[in-house]
Amino acid sequence: MHKKFSKLGYILAMAGSAIGLGNAWKFPTMTGNHGGFAFIFLYFVLTILIACVAFLAEAGIGRLSGKDTPKALIELAPKGQRFWGLGGFFMITALLIASFYLVVIGWILYYACLSIAGLPASTDEAGKLFDSLIKNNLTSVLSCYFAVLFITFYTVSRGIKEGIEKLNFILMPSLFILLIVILIYSFTFNSSGFSGAVSFIFTPDFSKILDPELILAAMGLALFSLSLGVGTVSTYGASLGEDTNLFKSLLYIVGLNICMGILMGLVVFSFVQVAPGASANEGPGLIFVSLASLFGELGAVGSALGFMFFISLLFAGITSAVSMIEPAVRYFEDEKGISRIKSSAILGVLVFGLGVLCVLSFYEPTKESFAIFGKSIFDILDYATSNVLMPLGVLFFSIFAGWIMPKERFYTLFLNYAPKFAVDIWYFILRFILPILVVGIGIYRLN
Ligand code: PFF
Repeated sequence: MHKKFSKLGYILAMAGSAIGLGNAWKFPTMTGNHGGFAFIFLYFVLTILIACVAFLAEAGIGRLSGKDTPKALIELAPKGQRFWGLGGFFMITALLIASFYLVVIGWILYYACLSIAGLPASTDEAGKLFDSLIKNNLTSVLSCYFAVLFITFYTVSRGIKEGIEKLNFILMPSLFILLIVILIYSFTFNSSGFSGAVSFIFTPDFSKILDPELILAAMGLALFSLSLGVGTVSTYGASLGEDTNLFKSLLYIVGLNICMGILMGLVVFSFVQVAPGASANEGPGLIFVSLASLFGELGAVGSALGFMFFISLLFAGITSAVSMIEPAVRYFEDEKGISRIKSSAILGVLVFGLGVLCVLSFYEPTKESFAIFGKSIFDILDYATSNVLMPLGVLFFSIFAGWIMPKERFYTLFLNYAPKFAVDIWYFILRFILPILVVGIGIYRLN
């Protein structure tokens, strides 16, 4: 018999999965660059309309069966249609994401240590340092990568209660407290920076909201952020306690996710000042160069702030990475009878191997040999997972839940949590709007 999450444990673990590197650098920059509060509004609408609908379908599949994803799909499919179980292998997407995501968490660990030793004090120096880290410093990159990978797999090997729930109980509140402390500092001693950040993020510019590229970006982020289409949501759903209200939990998870995105945005942009109307840097450039050098300029206080900031990113990243591994470990445990410890070890080696390829695709001496069509393995994995495999997974789960499974299964479960009209609206969006939107976006992208 598997242990189940407690009510709060489920909310924290699922919020821990949702809140991750996506919130740290995708959400703030997209918000700043694409119309400020108008983007938050659009993201919010798409999260409610699309991502939450997909979430309830995937979590419902897990909750109804209580099984690992392939088994859940086999059990819930009509008799004689075992082939639907193959959709469970979208959990491989999560392992692919873990390989490069953990490499980035490794860089974050390196920067947390560097904060103590002293961060570079100019953008120029910070740019050179980051470049030389990923291009020349193989030992540091690999050892930090190994350390975070070990923590992640060790946590999963300890199981739902002792590993994942416990980790989230410690890291999620700490993450929140760290961000609040940094913001209080910024509000008190850096008030012009703080108000700049507020106006960068909250000034609504609705003229940008109808741009198709923006809608695509917001939709992609909404799906990525709720960890959809890779078996994570269904696997966590399978460990949901009997008395947990799925709808209520989802409200908390989404609320926490959006608030954390905004908090991280405020932290980042209260230090990295962006001129009115200008666009902010994205991704590594923003965190490891602009922000790192600004902390560096602040001397001892900057070291403390930098340390807290990188540690909070580390926490956010690890709780997400753990959720990428659980679906496959649960599958091996339940279907193949391989113990958690053993399957975590085997998968750990596989993911590590793939991550090493990503690392080598940045490393100067091996860069050329690890590029495919001029793109690094890291970029290819990032692109293929977020733009192809995850949307395909979301499409699969929504078609399975909306068209293949008997309608009564969901209705019997969801009517415990919500009134009938709400379940009717959910079912309609699931069957018609969600697949059309995901396919539409896919076709638009290919053109
Ligand atoms: N939601 C995470 C983030 O925003 O960083 C990413 C993620 C976690 C994707 C877990 C997939 C997953 F299974």
